Amino acid sequence: MRRVVCPGSFDPITNGHLDIIGRSARLYDEVTVAVLINVEKSSLFTVDERIEILQTVTKEYPNVKVRKFHGLLVDFCRQNDIPAIVKGIRVVSDFDYELQMAQLNYRLSGVETLFMPTNPEYSFLSSSRVKEIARYGGDVSGLVPDLVHKLLIERLRG
Ligand code: PNS
Repeated sequence: MRRVVCPGSFDPITNGHLDIIGRSARLYDEVTVAVLINVEKSSLFTVDERIEILQTVTKEYPNVKVRKFHGLLVDFCRQNDIPAIVKGIRVVSDFDYELQMAQLNYRLSGVETLFMPTNPEYSFLSSSRVKEIARYGGDVSGLVPDLVHKLLIERLRG
């Protein structure tokens, strides 16, 4: 069984994330989407809401499962017998940051990190930008799954 993890905050999931998850699901037998529980960071959606959203929008991939984790990602990998992490790279500055994280994670545990270039259609996309645009009434359709679009409007514009 070839397993991989796609970790993140997913607050909320964007079409960029979904593209990486879908492409990983075609390459691996099992993809675990791992949602970080971060008590220090305020979020728009709770971890359980994010999990429910992720489960809905990844329904078409039978080999994708969604879990939450806290602490170190490599501990989650070890506990779940997952030997590799997939990270999407949008721009060179992502690589700078992710390379250090990948090397540290490997040093800590031997867990590998694989970089997947983001679809250029989404290279400018991030959850924070999406929230900012939606908060000020901008149109985020096409940037996030339809369900997320609907929930963002409900949550941010009352
Ligand atoms: O979507 P994000 O917020 O950019 O995802 C970041 C995430 C969750 C992948 C990263 O913060 C993470 O792995 N956090 C868990 C703590 C950890 O393992 N840190 C690495 C120490 S080298």
